[in-house]
Amino acid sequence: MFRTVIISIFSFALCTLASVYAQAPSAPLMDGYNHTGVASCATAGCHGDQVAGPGAGPVVGQNEYFRWRAFGESGAHSRAYEVLLTPHAQRIARNLGIGPAQKADECLDCHADNVPDTLRSERFQISDGVGCEACHGGAQDWLAFHRSSADHALNVEAGLYPTEDPSARAQLCLNCHLGSGAKNQFVSHKIMGAGHPRLKFELDLYTTIQQHHRTDAGYSTRKTVAPGAQVWAIGQVSALQRTLDLLLDKKISGEGPFPELFFFDCHACHQPISSGLKDLSWRPNPLRPLGPGVPILNDANLFMLIAAARGLDTVLAERLENNGRALHAASLQSSKQFRRSAIVLRATTDEMASRVLSADFSDPAMVRAILREVVDASLAERYTNYAAAEQALFAVQRLSADLELNSTEMTTAIEQASNHVQSPSTYDQIRFRDALRKIETFLEQ
Ligand code: HEC
Ligand code: HEC
Ligand code: HEC
Ligand code: HEC
Repeated sequence: MFRTVIISIFSFALCTLASVYAQAPSAPLMDGYNHTGVASCATAGCHGDQVAGPGAGPVVGQNEYFRWRAFGESGAHSRAYEVLLTPHAQRIARNLGIGPAQKADECLDCHADNVPDTLRSERFQISDGVGCEACHGGAQDWLAFHRSSADHALNVEAGLYPTEDPSARAQLCLNCHLGSGAKNQFVSHKIMGAGHPRLKFELDLYTTIQQHHRTDAGYSTRKTVAPGAQVWAIGQVSALQRTLDLLLDKKISGEGPFPELFFFDCHACHQPISSGLKDLSWRPNPLRPLGPGVPILNDANLFMLIAAARGLDTVLAERLENNGRALHAASLQSSKQFRRSAIVLRATTDEMASRVLSADFSDPAMVRAILREVVDASLAERYTNYAAAEQALFAVQRLSADLELNSTEMTTAIEQASNHVQSPSTYDQIRFRDALRKIETFLEQ
């Protein structure tokens, strides 16, 4: 009884804060609300109806629970906790000496809705993994009325996370798919060295893979729908902002002379040593003032952002390029110089964020121009490394989907490009560039 009173005062204090900071909602994991558990969402008549197709119900689909639990990648969140029970996860945890993975906050803060015990209602189960409230926010204050109230703003005020807003969504997904400054939401090189897979992410694609809603006419009267290309661009700018924030956070990047290896291109170090001319893969890159044989910052999001900027604001594009070059150069100089360059690029990304938010992405000519820049960048020999090629491929797929470029020739050309980006160990820049060149010819028609 006494405990309940304390909790409610505590969460009241946090609610007020949350509404003051309406522009930057707190992450569901830290929203201070009680999390009621997936079971409280999953009953028939609510979100647990067994009907086919996205958005099968009259207002919302009502089958979201089954879509969340679907086989394959689209239902991965429902199995994020189970993954921690596998021999792979147990080995990672053993290598790190943190006890069983399924009990370690170092793992649970991304693989489950790991709110404090005091905020777990009766039906809450940690084994539900990344449950509904890990994204939609603790339902304590909106569970009772969100079904009868059509007013989305009211729900958001009561703690529903605004997942439809692409900037807010980017912040949410990036917490786990890139990392955050929170204590246990970062996959350092140490954790990767212990066996954790490399993280990769693209907002529009990943949203589509796990999509359990339908954006029909009814939906757009309730919520604003951003074009896919804009979601892509917001994802890129948010990822770069987040990366630089983490880089500038000494708790994350460390105080030593060499920053945390997470920020570097994995395959610059992790690739077979070439034994002759034939398999020598190093090539100069016009955006990196670095010679051979040095570690390279992972600049994949920066490359994509430069392509977007070239379609939106060429002056800003040039500044991004110059700031990026300066950061690469500084990575070989002092840590002071490195931080200074990161701060300059960080400020430019803020400008880019406002350009991306205000631009009209429903204009197909502009989206086409950006897509052309993405494939053209390859002609300029920029995709020298796998991580950059991976993001370029995501961009080609999402921007061409947005433009509905789905002719057989286009689909085949994209498939061919994708064949060259199947694995870091077989990535071949020249073949990938040639495949993109083919896509470019279709864009000119
Ligand atoms: C910053 C968030 C984050 C943290 C912290 C984290 N993970 Fe992960 N983990 C992920 C994401 C995201 C994926 C999916 C990667 C992908 O496929 O892109 C993943 C994937 C995995 C996989 C592979 C799953 C599969 O289906 O093959 C294992 C195993 C795993 N994590 C174990 C762990 C363990 C053990 C810990 C704690 C030491 C941990 N993770 C900490 C985010 C995180
Ligand atoms: C990984 C994050 C994530 C998880 C986990 C998640 N959702 Fe969602 N959900 C989203 C996003 C993103 C959207 C689309 C944007 C929007 O409408 O808010 C969405 C949309 C919805 C919608 C459609 C809203 C509308 O206005 O049409 C419903 C209903 C929903 N989710 C319910 C659930 C339920 C129930 C669960 C758990 C079984 C769940 N979601 C799990 C991220 C998530
Ligand atoms: C609380 C942490 C968390 C949040 C927030 C989160 N994810 Fe995930 N996501 C994960 C983990 C962990 C996995 C891997 C689970 C597994 O392997 O079963 C994953 C897997 C996925 C997958 C399957 C593909 C893959 O890489 O394994 C997609 C798609 C995905 N997430 C999209 C999203 C999107 C879109 C958002 C934001 C709306 C989001 N996620 C938010 C933790 C999270
Ligand atoms: C500057 C070079 C460098 C970069 C960049 C780098 N690593 Fe490493 N990595 C190392 C070294 C050194 C080791 C330790 C090798 C050993 O102990 O045998 C290592 C070990 C590992 C291991 C353990 C290998 C094994 O089989 O035991 C994994 C996995 C790993 N790194 C993944 C990554 C990922 C993912 C990235 C990108 C985010 C990355 N590394 C970036 C140098 C690097």
